[in-house]
Amino acid sequence: PTVGVIVVAAGSGTRLGRSHPKAFVHLQGRTLLEHALLGVFGMSEAVQVIVVAPEDRVGEARAVAADASAAREALGPVSVVAGGTTRQQSVDRGLAALDAEVEIVLVHDAARALTPSDLCDRVVAAVRATGAGVIPGLAVVDTIKRVDASDLILDTVDRAELSAVQTPQGFPRAVLVAAHDTLADEATDDAALVAAAGHAVRVIEGSPLAFKITTPNDLERAGLLLAPAPG
Ligand code: CTP
Ligand code: MG
Repeated sequence: PTVGVIVVAAGSGTRLGRSHPKAFVHLQGRTLLEHALLGVFGMSEAVQVIVVAPEDRVGEARAVAADASAAREALGPVSVVAGGTTRQQSVDRGLAALDAEVEIVLVHDAARALTPSDLCDRVVAAVRATGAGVIPGLAVVDTIKRVDASDLILDTVDRAELSAVQTPQGFPRAVLVAAHDTLADEATDDAALVAAAGHAVRVIEGSPLAFKITTPNDLERAGLLLAPAPG
């Protein structure tokens, strides 16, 4: 395949506050990692999938990936590698496992477990069409205030200039690899690194279902979205 999807799942899930890592927390009978993989395996073209798992759970992640690919017939190769202590290190480990023929790379958070396959397809299509970085984002609906250390309002941020961004984030492989190789600073997403390296990154319409499961409230909401409608 000429598209690679790196699913980063090596975090501990501190804010979720469970005893085991977030990717292995269950939601309606499946782990969050399996939900995320079902979305990726539903893409319309064959892709190489690389799961980045906690170092001590690589075997467990392999079993989850096998279940998900059996359930939704993965079209391309699937592998699992060990992650690092930061998200960025985990992405680096994933980049190192890409097949030679991959030209477009998507980096996706396993924690965005309900992300629809269609969003992944749209990101790939937009990278192909523009040759540049593409990330999904949603318009911010709340009024956003800048606040000082004593909780006093400083000003209101112009909402029209804001986008709440999601994953999968897609890039030409060479651009993403170069940005990761040259910039050592910690960033919370890949688009920040690629932009800091001087490359254009565009936002396309994201999905409300691609929200990140971060807190117990997010997990509860995800459960409600998956539950069969009453009546
Ligand atoms: N991630 C990773 N390797 C790390 C840290 C994070 O692969 N060392 C992944 C997580 O597994 C997750 C995604 O990056 O899918 C987004 O990170 P986040 O939501 O912050 O997850 P955690 O770091 O696990 O959660 P927390 O920050 O609450 O500990
Ligand atoms: Mg984190």
